Amino acid sequence: MPRVLEAKAAMAERLELFMTTERGFEAVAADEVEELTGRKPEAVGEGRLLLKGSAKDVLLLNYCSNTLHRVVLLLLREEVETLEEVYSSALSVPFEELIAPEQSFAVRAERIGEHEFTSPEIAARIGQAVIDRYRRERGHRLRVNLKEPGVVIRAELSGRLLWLGVDTTGRSLHRRGYRAYLHPAPLKPTAAHALLRLAEWRHSEALIDPFCGSGTVCIEAVRWAWRMPNMLRKSSFLLWRLRFLPVEQLSRVAEEAEAGMRRRELKVRGCDISPKHLQGARVNARCAGIAGAVEFFTGDARELRYSEDVVIANLPYGLRMGSPRKVAKLYAGFERALASGSWRTAVLLTARPELYPAEPDEMLRVTLGTLPAKVMVFRN
Ligand SMILES: C[S@@+](CC[C@H](N)C(=O)[O-])C[C@H]1O[C@@H](n2cnc3c(N)ncnc32)[C@H](O)[C@@H]1O
Repeated sequence: MPRVLEAKAAMAERLELFMTTERGFEAVAADEVEELTGRKPEAVGEGRLLLKGSAKDVLLLNYCSNTLHRVVLLLLREEVETLEEVYSSALSVPFEELIAPEQSFAVRAERIGEHEFTSPEIAARIGQAVIDRYRRERGHRLRVNLKEPGVVIRAELSGRLLWLGVDTTGRSLHRRGYRAYLHPAPLKPTAAHALLRLAEWRHSEALIDPFCGSGTVCIEAVRWAWRMPNMLRKSSFLLWRLRFLPVEQLSRVAEEAEAGMRRRELKVRGCDISPKHLQGARVNARCAGIAGAVEFFTGDARELRYSEDVVIANLPYGLRMGSPRKVAKLYAGFERALASGSWRTAVLLTARPELYPAEPDEMLRVTLGTLPAKVMVFRN
């Protein structure tokens, strides 16, 4: 290993980690990060969290977290105004210590707010800074490879604040790899997991998702209770390509996480009115490695008895099902059935909370992709 990279390995114990999650679920994600690493991250809004951590944390957060989308090693956080300032900020980052000469790289940029330039322009300027810096420090021209890069540099310009880092994740972690059946209105598994935490579901308790669709909430419940790491995604993490991380040690940490898995009997049920979606849910559960752990059944959520401890639902919003009147009628029928049940906590997610006929005990504002929605928490 080149000397600079060895020096960097020592630094791998003092990394600044920039993590993303679905907007609105930052506090829930912070609790999970603290459970995994022993340290509380700082929630910095807009679905972002910051943590001072180690290489081991990078592995644990990618492999074992259920609420995070991405883990980036933060290199720079600085105010910039023009594209030229983007370039000179990026030029100050020691890329020669992060990328080996034979590795290719790509810059992926995003923008939040109003700017006089585009995200591809930001990516191009930062890419040029990486090349210029490397040539200046090492006399070598790095290769750009946008399709299969060795190292991915992530940049986000939020207003004037430029965040720059090395991606350790790759494809967002909400893509678990088990979704063989794609529901027309699926919930991200990271959001599904957050709902389970907001309900404070204990793994010994009975749980039902009466509008389960392709089974995301139920599958995430079992993965959590069985302490399943993100095994279908493990080999795709970009962290394995980072030469300055102690990769062998991280492989052992991953094996320890796998050894910690525990299969156990659970009381998790999923209901949907559509046999087609339920068939899809069973396929997804099989792909997730939890076949048979959830009882999926066809039924109308308005006719169930709700004797489980916890009820979690991602309600139909009406975007695809038609008029608000129809949605309100469905919500009214469901609320009647729920109100006569004997559950402890019900957590309902909807983009149409104004159509729901009961006042929740707590309400959380979230954004699902770009769709504003609310999580309603009811306690009996
Ligand atoms: C927003 S989707 C749930 C998606 C699910 N969370 C997932 O990730 O696949 C709502 C689901 O409610 C189901 N549904 C609609 N009316 C229902 C009813 N009366 N009883 C039970 N399920 C119903 C739909 O078939 C749909 O699958």
